[in-house]
Amino acid sequence: MKKTTENKMVEFDQVMDNAISRRHFLRGGAIIFGASNFVISTGIAALTSKQAITHSYSQTSLLEFTEIASNTLDTVTVPKGFGWYTVMSWGDPLWSDGKSFNHTTGDAKSQALSFGDNNDGMDIFTRDGRTVLAVNNEYVNNLSMYHNRDSKLAENLDDVMKAKQAHGVSIVELERKNNKYSIVKDSLYNRKITADTPIEITGPARAHQLMKTKKDPTGTKSLGTWNNCGNGKTPWGTYLSCEENFNGYFSSSDKNLKLSKEFKRYGIKHEDSKKYAWGKYDERFDIALNPTEPNRAGYVVEIDPLNPKYTPKKRTALGRFKHENAEVVIAKNGHVVVYLGDDERGEYLYKFVSADKYSKYGNNSNLLEDGDLFVAKFDDNNTGIWLALTPETTGMSKAKICIYTRLAASKVGATTMDRPEWVAANPNKSEVYCALTNNKNRGIKPNKDGDATPINAVNPRMANKYGQIVRWMPKNSDHSDINFSWNLFALAGNPEVHKNDLKSGSENITKHNMFNSPDGLKFDSKGGLWIQTDGKYSNQGDFAGMGNNQMLLGDPNTGEIKRFLVGPKECEITGLTWSADKETMFVGIQHPGEKGNSHFPDKYGNVPRSSIVAIYRKDGGTIG
Ligand code: FEO
Ligand code: CA
Ligand code: CA
Repeated sequence: MKKTTENKMVEFDQVMDNAISRRHFLRGGAIIFGASNFVISTGIAALTSKQAITHSYSQTSLLEFTEIASNTLDTVTVPKGFGWYTVMSWGDPLWSDGKSFNHTTGDAKSQALSFGDNNDGMDIFTRDGRTVLAVNNEYVNNLSMYHNRDSKLAENLDDVMKAKQAHGVSIVELERKNNKYSIVKDSLYNRKITADTPIEITGPARAHQLMKTKKDPTGTKSLGTWNNCGNGKTPWGTYLSCEENFNGYFSSSDKNLKLSKEFKRYGIKHEDSKKYAWGKYDERFDIALNPTEPNRAGYVVEIDPLNPKYTPKKRTALGRFKHENAEVVIAKNGHVVVYLGDDERGEYLYKFVSADKYSKYGNNSNLLEDGDLFVAKFDDNNTGIWLALTPETTGMSKAKICIYTRLAASKVGATTMDRPEWVAANPNKSEVYCALTNNKNRGIKPNKDGDATPINAVNPRMANKYGQIVRWMPKNSDHSDINFSWNLFALAGNPEVHKNDLKSGSENITKHNMFNSPDGLKFDSKGGLWIQTDGKYSNQGDFAGMGNNQMLLGDPNTGEIKRFLVGPKECEITGLTWSADKETMFVGIQHPGEKGNSHFPDKYGNVPRSSIVAIYRKDGGTIG
């Protein structure tokens, strides 16, 4: 819809409608902005002001620190009493026959022996006192990756191979020397799982006709994983790596190829999304020659980081979409529940419930091979229900539900969401949080299959610029129950720019902690909710005062949110984990200088590099 006067009227009407529905559910005490004490006013004027949702916080903080101001510096900023250093960056060798990073000479071989680009989700695994980090390498920045090419693009097969080796999962042993963690080169645990690594296809889609290709007529063995975004960790010690924008690597040598409904829903086009050129040099990525290859991507991949010989497994039972992360909890009845977001405008939030039960001392290695998928419906009265995706409810076979999960979800009346990013479960109580990062199409246009995206209680703002964090509480504290209640933990906004409407954000958003586009969410061991952002860093207009992307700590009990870290220019903050002793917190700095305006982590001269930084307390205490 074009921005016309008529459109502005529609927008105005919808804001008012929203205010009214807002009053409706406020009256029921149902929408709660993170706090226990509320003053709920009536009347539309009051409803559109922040006073309508005034509450007071008890000033208890999980981690004591002095909140930092926003900034636009080209460095990492942390509160007084804390320090940071770089642990590793894109191109750092993991083996001693790798070459030290040099952006003028790097090639496929040097990249194969070094840390990948754009680090994202990560977790620590320990054995016999050794520390092994598994970390996703989501995508590559052409500007940095091909800095040695005039075109700043892949120009030949080796260039494409280089990018493929920079994608996937890096598994790296770390050691702490002189109080600093660094790479253990040549560790038996060091491993690269890239866009060309053999992977086993498991679950309901395994061996289905739609999974078979010329090179794999069995439909059971795929090559590689790419665009690995968020992650998960299972209680049985495996790492889950989530394939997100997998579609953007495919292209068609036949520009007249008719794109199927399924290709369209998943965003598979004639051109790849970033001029990666994989399809030009590897026919696996050419949909004119290999139309079923895309069906083998878009899954959650399970990896045992402590077993270097483990064949990674695509867990098709967890569905195929643009997976953000995979948050694993064990329900009261022993079934494994995995919460999963599909990060696209107007797509859905899912959960998987395993067919078999977790057993602390048993064999859990195949629990993610079979189970049921559900999709969330959020009602405006602050209750919700998980709708089962079954052959009966969708008219699709179980295999097809796992391959074309988005199409299945569209059949059951679930709620289209404002881009579900990370999901995080509170370790102290049965509640789960999801970052709904933003959605410029909310209230304006439907998703790719025409599913409507009206303003509603959980996605309350038209053309949502700032994002919100929703949390839900399963009925009877049972994660396997289909019923839940929900509320908004935070509605991000700018209370300095917008005074009297929902764009000012919820009451726990102030000029001191404001941010936009919440993305990464993770709980620490004390129950603190860490919030990482991937938003607009212009520091102007609607985003004035927000500065660079950042990381904040939220208190689920009080609603308080405090800014803890600000990243360098043009980065996003993503990926978070802790050393076993909790003295070190590892934080991902992704794509610093994505537009060319950073030298992070070096001060001058070099191309910017995605990096993992370590945060520590100067008094040697624990952090999270
Ligand atoms: Fe890779 Fe939705 O973030
Ligand atoms: Ca993300
Ligand atoms: Ca994001």
